[in-house]
Amino acid sequence: MKVALLGGTGRMGRAIARQLSRDNEVVIGSRDPARASEAARLIHGAAGASYLGASEAAEIAVFVVPYKALGGAAELAAALTGKVVVSAVNPLRLEAGRLQYGLEEGSAAEELAGMLPGSRVATAFNHVSSLFFEKDEPVAMDILVAAEARETFEVVGRLVKSIPNLRPLYAGPLSQARVIERMTPLVLSLSKLNNTGSLTTKFVSVRDKGQA
Ligand SMILES: NC(=O)c1ccc[n+]([C@@H]2O[C@H](COP(=O)([O-])OP(=O)(O)OC[C@H]3O[C@@H](n4cnc5c(N)ncnc54)[C@H](OP(=O)(O)O)[C@@H]3O)[C@@H](O)[C@H]2O)c1
Repeated sequence: MKVALLGGTGRMGRAIARQLSRDNEVVIGSRDPARASEAARLIHGAAGASYLGASEAAEIAVFVVPYKALGGAAELAAALTGKVVVSAVNPLRLEAGRLQYGLEEGSAAEELAGMLPGSRVATAFNHVSSLFFEKDEPVAMDILVAAEARETFEVVGRLVKSIPNLRPLYAGPLSQARVIERMTPLVLSLSKLNNTGSLTTKFVSVRDKGQA
């Protein structure tokens, strides 16, 4: 797939772009196309572009910008029409020395969907630290994906599976982004309070007799 990393010059964007570049054609989107090209130079087969250029070129786009920059997505609505768009964005704020979830209600992914009425918006990768993607091969983990339609999840799931050791799990409609995004401050606290290093999710399962 041809995938745009919008904000791909940042820490998370570069890390995911490198992993995705094994099996996908990556376009790094930046406010400064020269910065995008510089970042792309370090990623196999990648190209750099403006946000608009990357959005136009891609079949699927991943937003890895700070929440405060998400409003700029509205200008990309036409270029992203008919495409799957993934939000990895967490609205976080620092309060009393701790990163807290920054919204009273809703989620960044739902706000993004409101700005991109012609796109199929999903959320994924939110609570996984970039550190996991900076390793040559990430550890085995589950990536929670929320999207209105299961078909959108299937597309995002293929992208997730193009990174070794990742299992996409469908979390249900986009409103589940409210839960998934709020997991980020929880995971950060768990890691800090228990001195574990960065944590990620891996669910274990058991089946009862007769369960398919
Ligand atoms: N870092 C992680 O471990 C991690 C994990 C999961 C999710 N996330 C989420 O991913 C998003 C990016 O995080 P990050 O750590 O990669 O941040 P970052 O290193 O600061 O990079 C963000 C990128 O966004 C772009 N950007 C566009 N508008 C901006 C603005 N007004 N101010 C600052 N940057 C702007 C910048 O690229 P240009 O200037 O080139 O356009 C910048 O390189 C956040 O929403 C975060 O919650 C991060």
